[in-house]
Amino acid sequence: MVASTQPPQIDTSQTTSQTKILKNFWYGIEHSASVSTKPKSITFMGHDLVLYRGSNGQAIALDGRCVHRGTDLGAGWVEGDCIHCPYHGWKYESNGACSLIPANQPGVVIPRRAKLQSYPVQEKYGLIWLFWGDLPPEECPSIPILPEFDQAGWRSIHGDFNWEGHYSRVIANTIDMAHAPFVHASAFGRKDSPAVQAYKLESGAWSASGFITFETKPAYSLKFILGNDPPDGIFRATFYMPNVSRVDLQFGRFQFVLFLVHLPVSDRQTITKWLHIRNFILTPLVDGFMRRDVVKTFVQDNQAVKIQAGAAPDDLTVEIHAPSDALELAYRKFYNQAVEMGWV
Ligand code: FES
Ligand SMILES: [Fe+2]
Repeated sequence: MVASTQPPQIDTSQTTSQTKILKNFWYGIEHSASVSTKPKSITFMGHDLVLYRGSNGQAIALDGRCVHRGTDLGAGWVEGDCIHCPYHGWKYESNGACSLIPANQPGVVIPRRAKLQSYPVQEKYGLIWLFWGDLPPEECPSIPILPEFDQAGWRSIHGDFNWEGHYSRVIANTIDMAHAPFVHASAFGRKDSPAVQAYKLESGAWSASGFITFETKPAYSLKFILGNDPPDGIFRATFYMPNVSRVDLQFGRFQFVLFLVHLPVSDRQTITKWLHIRNFILTPLVDGFMRRDVVKTFVQDNQAVKIQAGAAPDDLTVEIHAPSDALELAYRKFYNQAVEMGWV
């Protein structure tokens, strides 16, 4: 068969299986510090969840809509390990079972179907991770490892960033090696030097990584830190299926890590729960500058992501790939592998 020379047709209205969520993975969904005994509603690619802490401080995740009349349980109240619906006061145990219908006369049996789905939860790196799947979690890929978190000599700050794009585009942006000269031209991107070094793909279990070195154009706080004669930079990008990416930047002895958990909200919204971990100027006094740098960078990235066509297509031939896209292509291949395993 002769290879087609026709340009690909990009269907801007496409919906692909990436609008769905891969199952049998742990998903970071919220910062631990934002979860308390006051329930919190979370939208996870169209699924409404509620998150709260029980009597021992343990995080509890349940479906977020009351099975009585669909009320948002995030507006309810917590009592011990249980949550009450704000509308008619139905009470749910931490395993999701309804244990009280206040309007019932004594002796009226609670329907067995009056139950919310509950989800396994872990806390790691100051984040709440929820297991989404139908296999035993211990048989599934684990939460990625982040050795720098809480290590002496490193300081971590965190925040949220709201993107106007599908999570497949957001994670791709954060591991993209070729966009900085254009999207970040006004900051650290070098428009005069857009060629991306050939890099080697290092694959792990449900993850891959690649790094390049580049001539530094210091911007933001790095201008003050690196001075007039900055060393070359090393940029390493890593992804962990299905929604975590990690960016390492190193300039001589100065290093920082961005650990990014991309919460899929809808086809056109993603909230990144980010950690920024640095090994320099550990005083909290400069946290605000670091935070501002992260947000400014994401604001520029979002300008590109929000004008992309829908989700990344499953069919690898729909868009054209350049050698610099090897890492993102590896992500798409892992995604398709999970789909073939029936993990959707
Ligand atoms: S809607 Fe929740 S108790 Fe009625
Ligand atoms: Fe970027």
